[in-house]
Amino acid sequence: MHRTLRRGHSNSGPIGMIVTPGNRPAIVIPRAAIADGPCEPRRSLNPDRQPAMETTFPGINGFLGTRASIMLDIVFLAMFAVVPVMAWSINLAKRGQYQLHKTVQLLLGVVLLVAVLLFELDMRFVTDWTVRAQPSPHYGSLVKPSLYVHLFFAIPTTFIWIYVIAMALRKFASPPRPNEYSATHRRWGKIAAIEMFMTAVTGWIFYYLAFVAS
Ligand code: HEM
Repeated sequence: MHRTLRRGHSNSGPIGMIVTPGNRPAIVIPRAAIADGPCEPRRSLNPDRQPAMETTFPGINGFLGTRASIMLDIVFLAMFAVVPVMAWSINLAKRGQYQLHKTVQLLLGVVLLVAVLLFELDMRFVTDWTVRAQPSPHYGSLVKPSLYVHLFFAIPTTFIWIYVIAMALRKFASPPRPNEYSATHRRWGKIAAIEMFMTAVTGWIFYYLAFVAS
């Protein structure tokens, strides 16, 4: 049987120092602080300031070492890939590589759709993000407004992307090349790209305020 020392707190009095008759300091450890079995998770003495990963949250923890769930971490990182890939793909169209532009945009569309679906399932049925965001010092102030700003971009982005892809597939030949629909596609393509960029930036800000700040 292992004897395990609980660090930093006890149920029956403080861990402290006394001075013995020989004037040699001795550390006093109350009996209740020596427990059998595994250590309990370490918790802050101040209940209002629980450090990031010391509390058990519902759902699966992420891998970035923040309070976020695994799906939040995946989406957070995926946006770092989506933005440059999208910029590269638009550049392909500018240089006349329309087929590659089409393939990359369709792949991005499918990846984003799957990510959004998994994310929604996770948020609805597994992870209560508010529990994970509560230790943030911004929880009562900036977290909710930053989420609304993020949703202001994220929700229209989904529909604009579906619209741009569906119309491009319908109006351009296969393999794609410029035609009378080009001007409309360029206009909506730019709006779709700007919306996606703003979705990513506002998502990163929300992630920081809710799951990183402490
Ligand atoms: C959400 C997905 C998409 C976005 C955000 C997007 C964005 C863009 C943008 C911004 C341009 C203009 C580039 C420039 O400044 O010259 C462009 C051009 C083009 N895109 Fe897309 N695109 C998407 C999907 C597609 C798809 C699925 C196809 C093919 C079916 C396609 C075919 C083209 C073609 C042919 C052009 C050249 C138009 C021209 O300059 O005449 N795009 N796209």
